[in-house]
Amino acid sequence: MRSEEVYEKLKQWVEDNRSHTMLGEPAQYIPALANQDRDQLGICIMDYNGDTYMAGESNVKFTLQSISKIISFVALCHFKGLDFVLDKVDVEPTGESFNSIIPFEIHRPGKPFNPLINAGAITVASMLPGDTVSEKYERFLLFVEGMIGHQLELDQEVYESEWQTAHRNRALAYYLKESKLLDLDVEEALDIYIRLCAICISLEDLAKIGLVIAHDGYDPIEERQIFSHDVARIAKVLMVTCGMYNSSGKFAAHVGIPAKSGVSGGILASVPPKWHSPEKAFRKGCGIAVFSPAIDANGNSAAGTMLLRQISEEWDFSIF
Ligand code: DON
Repeated sequence: MRSEEVYEKLKQWVEDNRSHTMLGEPAQYIPALANQDRDQLGICIMDYNGDTYMAGESNVKFTLQSISKIISFVALCHFKGLDFVLDKVDVEPTGESFNSIIPFEIHRPGKPFNPLINAGAITVASMLPGDTVSEKYERFLLFVEGMIGHQLELDQEVYESEWQTAHRNRALAYYLKESKLLDLDVEEALDIYIRLCAICISLEDLAKIGLVIAHDGYDPIEERQIFSHDVARIAKVLMVTCGMYNSSGKFAAHVGIPAKSGVSGGILASVPPKWHSPEKAFRKGCGIAVFSPAIDANGNSAAGTMLLRQISEEWDFSIF
């Protein structure tokens, strides 16, 4: 498919899906996110050669929020090995909201259900290499910066806003501590977790990360393996089964792409290569990032999800 055609279609599909921003609202429980412009919808697709295709409000920057959870999982596995990490956190969906304490109370598991719910992500963040919170943060940043090729910054306002209002996450972290599932001090674990959530990212950067995950940890542009095939495989499993929280089943059925959402309105998606039907776009796989801050009841960007659904249907991106 010619580039102009790809641009034209993306432009059209963004406009087709813009009205779906009505189906959600910006996250209210983090004050610094509550007043985001709810009408924005933007997308960036990065292909195997590093060419990017953008449409809508595509020059935005936003905080990673829960998208950081799949990256911290990958980073921790890369640094400490898959077996070490899977010993501390499971790979099972919960059927509860991302910040629920119910699964713990009811099931009393020996480890958090998965690394994409808050409890699992706090555990993962706390185990990143480094002796202090700052060192853990710097090691994580370097890992991500190595993938995207430039420096990233913290959104200080979002960080402080979340730090001051993280009552539920604080409760979860104390619960983990009480259950002997957290080695680090509670406030330190919370600090590193909230810092990762407040890292500022562009659609282009996020699409690059999606591309590397789609290619099993291999960066096809720089031609180097960044993390192992095994780690990427488990990351994709988690994205499919837990990445969109309680919409993961519907998302798998109607979109069918490994993806991870965040409450700021971003979605990271990884489209693995597919060699049949060569007339369709992006057969060598791609990374996709969408942003639209109005989120639905499950914490996923409402218009972003619908835009991904249309793209996946039109270009046959589903892995199923
Ligand atoms: O801990 C929180 O609640 C936020 N920092 C992140 C939650 C989130 O993004 C869930 N996503 N869809």
